[in-house]
Amino acid sequence: MVSTSFGTTLVAVEGSTYPVALAADLTGLGAAVSAVLPPGRVVVVTNDVVGPLHAARAEASLRGAGWDPVRITLPDGEAHKTLGTWQGLVEDVLALQIDRRTPVLALGGGVTGDLVGFAAAAILRGLPFVQVPTTLLAMVDASVGGKVAVNTVHGKNLVGAFWQPRLVYAPFDVLDTLPDDEVRSGLGEVVKHAVLSGEDALAQLEADRADLNARSHEALARAVRASVACKAAVVAADPRESGVRATLNLGHTLAHALESVAGYGRLRHGEAVAIGLVAVTAYCERRGWTERGLARRIEQVCAGLRLPVAPPLDLDRSALVSAVAFDKKRDRATITLVVPAAPGRVELRSLPLVEVPALVDVLFDSRPQGPSPSPSA
Ligand SMILES: NC(=O)c1ccc[n+]([C@@H]2O[C@H](COP(=O)([O-])OP(=O)(O)OC[C@H]3O[C@@H](n4cnc5c(N)ncnc54)[C@H](O)[C@@H]3O)[C@@H](O)[C@H]2O)c1
Ligand SMILES: [Zn+2]
Repeated sequence: MVSTSFGTTLVAVEGSTYPVALAADLTGLGAAVSAVLPPGRVVVVTNDVVGPLHAARAEASLRGAGWDPVRITLPDGEAHKTLGTWQGLVEDVLALQIDRRTPVLALGGGVTGDLVGFAAAAILRGLPFVQVPTTLLAMVDASVGGKVAVNTVHGKNLVGAFWQPRLVYAPFDVLDTLPDDEVRSGLGEVVKHAVLSGEDALAQLEADRADLNARSHEALARAVRASVACKAAVVAADPRESGVRATLNLGHTLAHALESVAGYGRLRHGEAVAIGLVAVTAYCERRGWTERGLARRIEQVCAGLRLPVAPPLDLDRSALVSAVAFDKKRDRATITLVVPAAPGRVELRSLPLVEVPALVDVLFDSRPQGPSPSPSA
């Protein structure tokens, strides 16, 4: 069957554009890279989970299009998204005696893309960068928009740059090896993008629920395409995050607090986003800022995609209040809340810190529990 969901979206940023190509598999990678860069040496950077699964096919495709790939393998995991790993990578790339035209290609999830992109931004003051996202989260979020960074002991993503890729190539067959909970985590951001995009995107998610749960490539590609279109539009309007890009933080004020209070690894990012999205919408509905029924609808979409819609019950309320109040987006006596007024219509509001406990309380209302965040199956 010929697919209709794959295809290319152009992202326009600061006077240039780059393609985000959604493809059935890795076979077209080499040709896609050759369409934007002249063939020569290419540094393929992956990690020790993704490399053994997918790098050989990526490299075969690159060779077939006239490229000479050299592979560098990083250790897997967010714990390695550090300045130490970054420095080692920079030294390893320079040891290959590359020149300023040599592209660096990130093959992996958001951790790989962020780290490799930040190395590409710095080496010889900037090497061409290609993203090949292999997680759903990286396809719908991390690989698009040009934010690249590493973590420090002071917090996540605190050292980085804006460095746009020359190409994003998303191959859907690689998702077959991705664990279910990683797919679910990506779906949390998909729902967020659908709320930001509007009625059509939300209705499409509702219609695709069963196919998404079955991990159909067609349905996943439809979801990624809609997400990329949403993020591309926001990034084009605000490439350096000085205004409207903050709307991408919808649901994230509570999500970040939930992740930090639950403790590392207990809630996946996208799961925390789903819980945060439902709760913030319910809160805004109560305040009269959101059309009636939207919270219930988002809750049903999330639960239908097996995302949790309420936090684990043992989380400490006062710890959550402190975590929300001290979110890095805090501006003195207020926090900035992204308010979903209706599908496709969001606004930013300053919320006084005294209102934060009421916002957190919504998390613990007696709304129906969604599936457990970490099913044992
Ligand atoms: N730059 C941005 O705008 C932006 C946006 C959102 C998130 N991020 C960053 O992205 C990171 C999270 O990304 P993530 O969720 O992709 O995490 P990740 O890169 O750690 O990937 C999750 C896990 O899946 C494995 N994996 C990746 N692809 C696989 C595949 N096809 N088959 C089997 N296993 C596979 C990885 O090795 C890892 O163990 C965070 O560091 C976050 O800060 C960045
Ligand atoms: Zn997020």
